[in-house]
Amino acid sequence: MNARNQLQESDAQRPVLVAGATGAVGSQVVRALLERGASVRVFVRSLDKVDALPAHVDRVVGTLEDRDAVARALRGVRSAFFVAPHDADEEQLAENFVAACEREQTRLVFSGVHAGGANRFTRLAMRTLFGRMMPHYIPKLRIAERVRTSRTTSVVLTPGNYFQMDELIREELLAGRFILPMGLVPRVDTRDIGDAAARALLDGSVASGAYSLVGPTSLTGEESAAAWSVALGRSVAYAPDFEAAALLFERLYGGRKAVDFRESYRLLGGVKVKTSPREVQETTFLLGRPPRPFARYALETAARWQAPAMPTGANLVTSR
Ligand SMILES: NC(=O)c1ccc[n+]([C@@H]2O[C@H](COP(=O)([O-])OP(=O)(O)OC[C@H]3O[C@@H](n4cnc5c(N)ncnc54)[C@H](OP(=O)(O)O)[C@@H]3O)[C@@H](O)[C@H]2O)c1
Repeated sequence: MNARNQLQESDAQRPVLVAGATGAVGSQVVRALLERGASVRVFVRSLDKVDALPAHVDRVVGTLEDRDAVARALRGVRSAFFVAPHDADEEQLAENFVAACEREQTRLVFSGVHAGGANRFTRLAMRTLFGRMMPHYIPKLRIAERVRTSRTTSVVLTPGNYFQMDELIREELLAGRFILPMGLVPRVDTRDIGDAAARALLDGSVASGAYSLVGPTSLTGEESAAAWSVALGRSVAYAPDFEAAALLFERLYGGRKAVDFRESYRLLGGVKVKTSPREVQETTFLLGRPPRPFARYALETAARWQAPAMPTGANLVTSR
């Protein structure tokens, strides 16, 4: 075996770090990495939430506020995954993680809100437009730009609205109402985000840059409701109710996460964004297959809900 092969082999044995491993996306990244036989290290605030992970998954306990803990978690990893948590201090928390990746020269894969564009002028125009439409999301746009321009190899994944957000309104869906405001919105399965991130974390030939992650088509509220009608075998009407959704987010989460979700749906109710062939192509490239369609996700989820002894409630983490 030559030196280059030996280097690649030892690189493959080093763990991939997943920050936010207990979250909607991070848990899917862990699942996808384990399915690919990768060595995984998780960075978690509490060990309780990762009880169910296999014993060979390395666990580092700490918070993003603690720079020493972040540095400890990154030591010796081959690549690292990061999502900015729903936190008033999200920019500083992201800075702690990105700066540590720069110091360690760690390949960084990030999933979050990003205003893309082919060159710096279109990127600036997109950020200005996005910021005007959605001032609440300005820090998130700055985080993605910080990652994209960081002094390490970085891949920025830009997912659409998660299919799995609909699981928050399970009771409403079962009562025949799709209450989440939705004009025309690119949506994506969190399992596809996990699969795409795993590819970017493990395959160094995936070039630095920003990639869209979407389902096959954008969806309107009516189309989302229609897919749930078929999946649940009962009529589900599109009945957008911003106030009811905001109250639900407050009851489920409170704090910054409830505010982020509320502000997202304030925007999503009014937008008409058609998924472009380029976005589907980028997603398909990372997945090595076409993205999962919403109708299939709804069928699988309805079957899971109807199966006996499944836990109920607002769990965003959907198993494969
Ligand atoms: N929802 C959507 O449709 C959507 C679409 C596109 C982009 N996004 C973006 O995705 C991001 C959120 O990702 P997600 O959906 O995976 O979030 P999530 O389910 O809320 O997970 C957040 C993760 O971060 C961890 N965390 C929070 N604060 C931390 C801290 N101070 N130190 C260490 N870990 C911390 C949480 O750990 P604990 O388990 O300990 O809380 C959890 O594992 C947001 O930036 C959002 O804007 C969301």
